[in-house]
Amino acid sequence: MIPESFKQDLLNRVDIVEVVSRYVQLKKGGANYLGLCPFHNEKTPSFTVSPAKQFYHCFGCGAHGNAIGFMMSYGGLGYVDSIKELASSVGMQVPEWQPRTPQEAERRERQTDLVSVLEAAMAFYRAELKKSPRAIEYLKGRGLSGEIAARFRIGYAPEDWQSLRAPFPDYEHQSLVEAGLVVENEGKRYDRFRDRIMFPIFNARGAVVGFGGRLIGESDKSDSAAQAGPKYLNSPETPVFEKGREVYGLVQARDAIRAAGRALVVEGYMDVVALAQFGVGYSVATLGTATTPVHVAKLLRLADELVFSFDGDAAGRKAAWRALEVSLPLATDAKPIRFLFLPEDDDPDSYIRNRGREAFERLVREAPTLSGFLLSELRAGADLSSAEGRSKYLVAAKPHLHKLTAPALRLQLLKEIADAARVSQEEARQLLEVKDAPAFARPAPARAQQRAPVSHEWNLLACVAAYPRLAAELDLASIDARTPEGRALTEIAHWCRSVPDIGRSADAMLIERFQDQPGGELVFSAQAYSIQLKLTEAEAREQLRQRMWKLDIESKNRVIEELRKRLEQGALTKDEHVRYGRMIAEVKQLEQKLMADGRGPT
Ligand code: UTP
Ligand code: MN
Repeated sequence: MIPESFKQDLLNRVDIVEVVSRYVQLKKGGANYLGLCPFHNEKTPSFTVSPAKQFYHCFGCGAHGNAIGFMMSYGGLGYVDSIKELASSVGMQVPEWQPRTPQEAERRERQTDLVSVLEAAMAFYRAELKKSPRAIEYLKGRGLSGEIAARFRIGYAPEDWQSLRAPFPDYEHQSLVEAGLVVENEGKRYDRFRDRIMFPIFNARGAVVGFGGRLIGESDKSDSAAQAGPKYLNSPETPVFEKGREVYGLVQARDAIRAAGRALVVEGYMDVVALAQFGVGYSVATLGTATTPVHVAKLLRLADELVFSFDGDAAGRKAAWRALEVSLPLATDAKPIRFLFLPEDDDPDSYIRNRGREAFERLVREAPTLSGFLLSELRAGADLSSAEGRSKYLVAAKPHLHKLTAPALRLQLLKEIADAARVSQEEARQLLEVKDAPAFARPAPARAQQRAPVSHEWNLLACVAAYPRLAAELDLASIDARTPEGRALTEIAHWCRSVPDIGRSADAMLIERFQDQPGGELVFSAQAYSIQLKLTEAEAREQLRQRMWKLDIESKNRVIEELRKRLEQGALTKDEHVRYGRMIAEVKQLEQKLMADGRGPT
């Protein structure tokens, strides 16, 4: 494990502009540097690198990180390797972590560094694959080369109940359970994954966050196989792994997605790997779960076109319909979404193996569009030869048209639906209550723009993101820690106190603190907002002070209101009377302070 102080020194020493410039052409623009984002496809630069804050942010796709994060996401290196790489570039040596005090050792012991644990497990599984002729045979039998297996970091979990004792001598450590690697049952602990081919799952930043493990051979043949569990076993959800957010294979596919302008979503791990083996590198898979809006939004940021592939059976059509419903609100006129249905009994893996890349890519290119699929499904459910059937068809179409916000596409669909139902377009518009669409399709907004700067807590967060050391001046008592913003503020304040001497690396360290943690997105969008804000530290401090007063006024006013109600009912005790008067006076005082500062309360 790498000590926090070393990370801080490192982030103080390296210059993110210099690191990024090795790979991306940057131009100076004001205080920041700008370039074409390496994480999504764009023609005008929205990728911003701040030398003062030592982080990058893309206002187009929301990519966000410090120098370590850049090495991980762009360089495809693991966490530890990224740090080593950066360290060697500035002549630093990564030390082994040594606790200085027993307390520190104990605290560290409790601290879970789940990603490092998962990374170590991945290294172990990969080494085990090399030692298992049976597992190697299985992968070869499925047509995979050693190169592809290495690219996807495929490994093998041995058959023993506690094989993870080898990489983790402290097998009892809680973090193994938290990482989902070890299962605890009636006081006994054992490896979750045994005798399985291991597919590590990486998040967009390139950190291992979980695994999918496949049985060797078929699952449904014999009793012993039934005992071995399901064909695929996946990591449980953990603090670093949320299935609805992650897709399998994204890190490996990113370059190919950008080059092809297209992302293909398939159903299985093996499909992704087999497609890559046959030269179709732009595919990713959902993780044994239905498609979510996060999946769709994530991929639409990277690609110009999104294609979902489904098996040609009834289950496949059902899954496709779900993906369609999720996609409707996210579809834009500029980025078509398609639905590919494979012949029955085929999946992408078997299809490309049997028919080759050309045939498969033809299917992809010719896949029905979202509107085509929607119309054919609607039509299949209605008898268009009777007035009743056509009415039913119109009614069925309504909610879908409403969900669709891409204006041109919606207009096209409206026309088609009207024609099929034998009504005029105007009649259809009235009947379906389709409002005039806005003149321009909204591009997928970047995270920072999505969040309207509304609450006092959000504004406080923006000030603190601009100058982290200001967090020490927060009055935590009046911050509502039940809101996500309030919780983030509280955590930053505590973090601030625990980090000695925050220097130039403050913002970059804040990213380390919140990376892959709850609240991270919020903090990162506040950071992005802060580089647009251009506040001086004095201005930020001033704003922070005023916001604290306003918060204080608001919370006092709530109490006053409560007391006033009871006063009207004649139910106040003597003490409460006193408190009532005092609070009114305090609010007045705070309001005067605000006025004196030149700004009225809002
Ligand atoms: P499939 O059963 O279609 O498997 O599951 P596959 O991808 O064709 O795999 P191979 O070719 O037999 O190796 C598709 C996906 O559904 C999830 C996994 O994510 C898998 O990749 N799944 C499937 C599970 O989570 N558990 C299972 O038991 C089966
Ligand atoms: Mn398959």
